[in-house]
Amino acid sequence: MSQTFFIETWGCQMNDLDTQRLSGTLKLRGWQRVEDQTLASLILLNTCSIREKSEQKVFSRLGELRELKAAANGGVRIGVAGCVAQQEGEKILKRAPWVDFVMGPGSVGYLDEILAGQRTIAVDFPDDRRYDHLSMDRPSATKAQVTIMEGCNKNCTFCIVPTTRGREVSRSFDDILIEVRAAIESGRVEFELLGQTVNAYRCPTTGRDFGALLSAVASMPGVARLRFMTSHPAEVNDSMIAAMRNHANIPGYLHLPVQSGSSAVLRRMKRLYTREKYEEIIARIRTAIPEIHFSTDIIVGFPGETDADFEQTLELMRRIRFGSLFAFKYSPRPGTPSLKIGPPVDDAIASSRLNRLFELHEEIKREFLDSYRGRVMPVLYEGPSRHDPEMLAGRTDDNWVVNFKGDPRTPLGSLVGVRIDQAQHHTLRGEAIA
Ligand code: SAH
Ligand code: F3S
Repeated sequence: MSQTFFIETWGCQMNDLDTQRLSGTLKLRGWQRVEDQTLASLILLNTCSIREKSEQKVFSRLGELRELKAAANGGVRIGVAGCVAQQEGEKILKRAPWVDFVMGPGSVGYLDEILAGQRTIAVDFPDDRRYDHLSMDRPSATKAQVTIMEGCNKNCTFCIVPTTRGREVSRSFDDILIEVRAAIESGRVEFELLGQTVNAYRCPTTGRDFGALLSAVASMPGVARLRFMTSHPAEVNDSMIAAMRNHANIPGYLHLPVQSGSSAVLRRMKRLYTREKYEEIIARIRTAIPEIHFSTDIIVGFPGETDADFEQTLELMRRIRFGSLFAFKYSPRPGTPSLKIGPPVDDAIASSRLNRLFELHEEIKREFLDSYRGRVMPVLYEGPSRHDPEMLAGRTDDNWVVNFKGDPRTPLGSLVGVRIDQAQHHTLRGEAIA
């Protein structure tokens, strides 16, 4: 019988990709992936530490696995990967001695060595990250996510990512194109380029920038849609905007985390832009791409955030009218500079700010979605709708989910023209047009 593994993933797309690499590597070595942890001889937790809550979940999961391990009588190994592994290192083995090894995001390419050892703690950032695209276990037959850079050099004062993912390292232009080409040959039509600050990309050998990479990938025959995550406002430049405008297969969608509408808070966060500068960047992009859908991240309750600061965040939300919002209460992270700035805002106040922000955004989103009614949108067909098997589902160019009436024989991954007739809570409804 072949060896079996179970892998559980928390957190961002970077972790999703690390799971695809770990899983693919194991499969190439003859391991079989199982969805039931009790059938596994190896259990991997790929963890997230962006906020305290995500970290607590990991330790409660490890508590559950203690019993499983005892019952398996030495027949199962448990590994902790991802950002909690990097952040806590050896402390995990002390706190949960039933864990067999701990490996950080820099060690994903070193799984063979780690499995060969015992009670290994791999938390280095080797210069050679050993990225082998042939060992990617991609969950979708039509979509491929591709890492173009790892780590982050920005050091926002609230953020643990620079500690857990290390300094910024970009992959070479040619490597990326080779990976995309191979994925096209395997039938993928939709691509997502990933990095913590994806638009800080610079080819290490030729110096070509993110805009050049976008243009090169978008020009490859077979790329129906090209997305990317996450852009940093201070790294937006003309070459990136031009690439987005010039290629029809790059969606009119941009996730551009702002974090706060107050320049005073932004300075303490070390975000490297003011509120005015952020609005200027948005205006520049809107001039080039008028129908763009902006999405953002906001933190409320950062140390020292006053009512007046928060009002400015609401005002910014009203002015920019973000279509999508990911908002969080500030969570103090170990070793981050924000700990020295002061304590978080009182929890009840932070919660009420978060609620007010979500309420305002709900109104804006409803109007935004309503404005699609009557329009015909290109939708990339992804499969039957989850809620209603009679309907098909896909995404618009600018990232909204659409459930639509259409021909169930439509091949996966094709672009279908859909007339939008209804806006629902988070999604659109419509009918395919001939
Ligand atoms: N690389 C991306 C995102 C990093 S983490 C960027 O450039 O913004 C994703 C989001 O989590 C951040 O945008 C931020 O809004 C939120 N976040 C990060 N650290 C946080 C913390 N300590 N408390 C609350 N939210 C946090
Ligand atoms: Fe974190 Fe700021 Fe980088 S949010 S990932 S330090 S850009």
